[in-house]
Amino acid sequence: IGYSLLAGAIAYLCGAIPTGYWLGRLLKGVDIRELGSGSTGATNVLRTLGKLPALAVLLIDLLKGVAAVVLAYWLFSLPAVIATAPAGFKAWLPWEIAIIALIAIVGHSRSIWIRFTGGKSAATGLGVLLALSWPVGLGVAISFGVVLAMSRIVSLSSIVAAVMAVVLMAMFHQPMAFLLMAIAGALFVILRHTANIRRLLAGTEARIGSS
Ligand code: G3P
Repeated sequence: IGYSLLAGAIAYLCGAIPTGYWLGRLLKGVDIRELGSGSTGATNVLRTLGKLPALAVLLIDLLKGVAAVVLAYWLFSLPAVIATAPAGFKAWLPWEIAIIALIAIVGHSRSIWIRFTGGKSAATGLGVLLALSWPVGLGVAISFGVVLAMSRIVSLSSIVAAVMAVVLMAMFHQPMAFLLMAIAGALFVILRHTANIRRLLAGTEARIGSS
């Protein structure tokens, strides 16, 4: 259980790295949470800091999700961990990994470094998915790209991508733990988009390139 806690703490700290916030402070001396949508994610960085910083935040936030899951897999495969593992460890592994993936997703939105604020966990969520199952991650990324190309609305693309994560986990016959993780993660990401959903329904959500 000590190793599970350690992996959970690592995942949280990975997810909680406030990339967008730090870049705002570093490049323009601003608190990005006071600008645009108030999110620390790549979309708001694009709005307030520009293309290159947005690309950097997108990549780093994605890698945070990948790192949390990869580090957990690595930790749970160490000989010392396996030697001291309780019976049934193998059967529990997907559940452990699924919980750790969720912790990274929540960490991005509720970062301890910026008073439990953050982004909307779309990029970190994609990173987590790519590490859990690359075909699912790839499918979700494609769905995001298609919706974005058609609508030029990032929030709508993120919401559709979150739903697609659940659909693809089921379609690719992933472990039940991963499917439930995708459902919980999707609900979390959609909840984080409440203000966006309100604007989408009112027809006032900003499009990329026009705000
Ligand atoms: O990933 C966040 C995106 O879906 C929406 O961001 O800043 O437009 O609320 P934002």
